[in-house]
Amino acid sequence: MSPETEKPSAESLITEARRVLEHAHAPYSRFPVGAALLGESGRVFLAVNVENASYGLSVCAERAAVFAAVAAGERRFAALAVATDTDRPTPPCGACRQVLREFVADLPIHLAGRHGAIETRRLTELLPHAFTPEPDSRRQPFKG
Ligand code: THU
Repeated sequence: MSPETEKPSAESLITEARRVLEHAHAPYSRFPVGAALLGESGRVFLAVNVENASYGLSVCAERAAVFAAVAAGERRFAALAVATDTDRPTPPCGACRQVLREFVADLPIHLAGRHGAIETRRLTELLPHAFTPEPDSRRQPFKG
């Protein structure tokens, strides 16, 4: 693999997520989030959380990144990085986990706070027993 086509490392994805974090629109929660989503093509989709005076309309950074990727024709993902301005890394919310699962069965998710070590989790670890788009999964009978 040549250097130009080499996939970005967890560190460089986190660097991109930390950079874009500055563009977050989070005046209500004061909790800015930056996301960098790596597509299988090698393209990286950056996004931030965008809040609204009508609070319920706010959108998380991770979902905004998925939506931007899908709009650009990218539906297969290799990794996600999430940066927050907190002491400890923050994992994606449940809604974002479910939206990611629509497009990818599993994914490394690199998490970073303001400084310190990157934590890596997997989507399957964060969203076990997922409700999936695969028909078999949706038709499973309840075994009570
Ligand atoms: N937020 C994200 O962007 N991603 C998450 O996974 C958790 C929460 C945003 C939503 C809202 O703008 C702010 O963080 C506080 O909840």
